[in-house]
Amino acid sequence: MLNEKVKIEYDDRPVGVFDSGFGGASTLRDLMRELPFERFIYFGDNANAPYGDRPEEEILALSEAAADLLLHKGVKALVVACNTATSASIKALRMKLDVPVVSVEPAIKPACMAEGRGKVLMLATVATTRLARYRALKNRMPDPERVIDVGCSGLVELIESGLTEGEKIEAALHDKLAPFEGMRIDGIVLGCTHYPFIAPAVKAYALAHFEGERRIFDGNAGTARQLKRVLINEGLSASPKAPEGERAAFFTSGDPAVEEPIFRRLLEIPVYAER
Ligand code: DGL
Repeated sequence: MLNEKVKIEYDDRPVGVFDSGFGGASTLRDLMRELPFERFIYFGDNANAPYGDRPEEEILALSEAAADLLLHKGVKALVVACNTATSASIKALRMKLDVPVVSVEPAIKPACMAEGRGKVLMLATVATTRLARYRALKNRMPDPERVIDVGCSGLVELIESGLTEGEKIEAALHDKLAPFEGMRIDGIVLGCTHYPFIAPAVKAYALAHFEGERRIFDGNAGTARQLKRVLINEGLSASPKAPEGERAAFFTSGDPAVEEPIFRRLLEIPVYAER
């Protein structure tokens, strides 16, 4: 009816976010920036990290357990802030859960759409590079041969221990990236949510050893925009006022006394990538 005020519904329950460990904190930073009125519950499955060298069935079971834990805490939507868990479990989670599920995926599309004909290096866990979901995504690119997958076993363990720079990180990057030295690399995709924390080290390595544009991409900003769209479409957005108290609560399957300080520190580290 004309002139009748439309009542907008809000939902102030938190959004659940999970990863195998701290990686999803890089996603959480973008979610908090994009959605200033939302509160978040983060679950890091630190006791079971890394997921990336495990078989698909194990990653699926761990992802389902993480999702259940967050649903029991009363979340209104779920963000799978882990490329590996997305590849192994997103279909099953969407079929099983009755809350919206948003995920992060390797940002190969923006990397392939950006200017330049040089190669795109896709850095991710071995599981992500092997699983069918990622293979299908890559095959949808106009020129899939441009994308070189680099399985980076070992990097997640270093970041889980709280390291984001220094000799060990540099040696690990050298180990994975030396075969591409001197090549024209226009894009580097951080296809694991742990890697944005070492973006400055990746950039420095690329500037010293590769040719080309050497742009860095991650999927976090896209995930944040997608969550915003989904919450609006489903009528689940929080009321437009700054939430009281902490915006993000942290839970871990590891030892909170050890893990929480690392989580807090990582949340404060500036993470950068091309938007
Ligand atoms: N952060 C995760 C990802 O985005 C997984 C890391 C791991 O546990 O191996 O793939």
